[in-house]
Amino acid sequence: AQERTLSIIKPDAVAKNVIGEIESRFEKAGLRIVAMKMLHLSNEKAEGFYAEHKERPFFKDLVGFMTSGPVVVQILEGDNAITANRDLMGATNPKEAEAGTIRADFANSIDANAVHGSDSPESAAREIGYFFADDEICPRG
Ligand code: CMP
Repeated sequence: AQERTLSIIKPDAVAKNVIGEIESRFEKAGLRIVAMKMLHLSNEKAEGFYAEHKERPFFKDLVGFMTSGPVVVQILEGDNAITANRDLMGATNPKEAEAGTIRADFANSIDANAVHGSDSPESAAREIGYFFADDEICPRG
């Protein structure tokens, strides 16, 4: 089924200057970018995005990392986009990520893990709405 998912290129990957290489992997896999913006997250914006992890021991480091530099936020659209994006990203911990995945190739640690992708249709809907208004999304068929 056609789906949309929210993807974030995190500060470590932006700093490595591999935005284009990562976008290229999405495009080569048949995912279409239907919205995108670059922004430097405030503490409030990052905390709200990761609200479900609020009680986790890594929450403070996660927010600190995600606000440490600019990120690129985008909506990817395509067949089974949520799973397709997660397959391209690889495991959350880059040490466990399969060869050839984005995290295996570009990430350094579980915090600086290059990319985020929605993990379910419910989180995709919430995360897309968290960053994009309807008139910022450009369906491309
Ligand atoms: P992300 O997909 O952006 O969602 C939450 C992030 O928390 C995750 O990627 C990791 O970068 C980070 N994180 C740090 N420690 C952990 C952990 N022990 N388990 C899961 N996520 C973690």
